[in-house]
Amino acid sequence: MRHSKPPAGLVPEVIEIETQRLRLRQWRQEDRAPFASLNGDPRVMEFFPSTLTAAQSDAMADRCEALIAERGWGFWAVEATATNRFIGFVGLHIPSAELPCSPCVEVGWRLAREFWGRGLATEAAAAAVSTGFHRLGLPEIVAFTPLQNVRSRAVMKRLGMLESGAFDHPHVPENSGVRRHCLCRLPAAVRDA
Ligand SMILES: CC(C)(COP(=O)(O)OP(=O)(O)OC[C@H]1O[C@@H](n2cnc3c(N)ncnc32)[C@H](O)[C@@H]1OP(=O)(O)O)[C@@H](O)C(=O)NCCC(=O)NCCS
Repeated sequence: MRHSKPPAGLVPEVIEIETQRLRLRQWRQEDRAPFASLNGDPRVMEFFPSTLTAAQSDAMADRCEALIAERGWGFWAVEATATNRFIGFVGLHIPSAELPCSPCVEVGWRLAREFWGRGLATEAAAAAVSTGFHRLGLPEIVAFTPLQNVRSRAVMKRLGMLESGAFDHPHVPENSGVRRHCLCRLPAAVRDA
């Protein structure tokens, strides 16, 4: 699976996606404050090694924005269309770690706590997956999360992803209780069947 940079001078079109209740779009400066707030929430970050400082959160938003500008797709900022409020991110990403599924494109999500339990993560992720297969032509999309993250695993199941074993995430410290991850795969052929 190759995702080479476009030739110099060619800027790809930034893909933005509308669903029934959501807009997946490029990041804006005003997303930084609510993003830092959710990244500092221990409930949201329960299955990560730690919460993020505001500086770490801003740096992550910067990386997401830069990758979308470079490729046209990525971990999009998600806003509720009814209120225009930023609720978190959902989207597609090439993992920087060397994983059992590498090279691969993952679908991932992180929403502020007040937006859980409404089907919003699955709605956004289904649209991202559909874009990955139909617009980007990806042959497969994967997802992974610590074994204990039942909410995230439930999203994978709702997307029709297939459990495909477990692995220790190389970027999570060895003494962390969240190192062991389950891997789910969704081949384009299964999605379209
Ligand atoms: C993982 C995460 C995105 C899941 O969010 P979620 O809200 O549980 O997932 P969904 O959007 O699919 O919502 C499903 C729930 O909404 C309910 N729901 C309510 N209205 C709904 C609607 N209109 N349509 C669909 N589901 C609806 C479902 O019944 C389900 O409820 P349940 O959890 O009680 O079974 C969220 O917990 C999160 O951001 N966690 C922190 C970050 C994280 O761990 N990310 C993954 C790291 S690998």
